[in-house]
Amino acid sequence: MNGSVDAPTQVVPLLLADHEEAKSLLQRFEEAAASKRDEAFCELTYALVRHEVAEEEVVYPAVRRYVDGGDDLADMRIAEQSKAEELLAEMEMVGVGSPQFPAMFTTLRSEVLAHAQAEEQSVFVELSANVSPDELLELGKRYELAKKAAPTHPHPHAPDTPPGNLVMGPVAAVVDRVRDAVRGVKSST
Ligand SMILES: [Fe+2]
Repeated sequence: MNGSVDAPTQVVPLLLADHEEAKSLLQRFEEAAASKRDEAFCELTYALVRHEVAEEEVVYPAVRRYVDGGDDLADMRIAEQSKAEELLAEMEMVGVGSPQFPAMFTTLRSEVLAHAQAEEQSVFVELSANVSPDELLELGKRYELAKKAAPTHPHPHAPDTPPGNLVMGPVAAVVDRVRDAVRGVKSST
């Protein structure tokens, strides 16, 4: 997150840094005061969606291309990501203040952590083993560009916003917006 913009970095350390960020945002949500939970959920959602979309657009095509059995590996991990996106959308619908939310958050947390670990132990290992250092740098550059193209998370809700009514809009729309932005930058480079 805070590395120099100019220093090229291989893609795997960037992905690992994002996983650490996701873990700390999950924890931040758990520790947030009731009045800050909307904002914390919003920030968590944006970070997860931005990371996942950038992975799907930049990293998984490389997995399919360079790794033996890469198609199956990519399909499996992308299915996990889609499941998390669906759960986020359901969580948004019920709202952070609803009685169902804590159990849903527990599920999200364990699914996100299990998915991150699976990526680290399979995808990232295979990428490092099968992709040349130059290509890993190139993927890192494209991954950063993709993330930068994604809209930043919206301003936290206004004080008069009813609880549970997130201003970021449906998660599905956030996913679409991020995906469009990332594809836009890819086609112009
Ligand atoms: Fe990831």
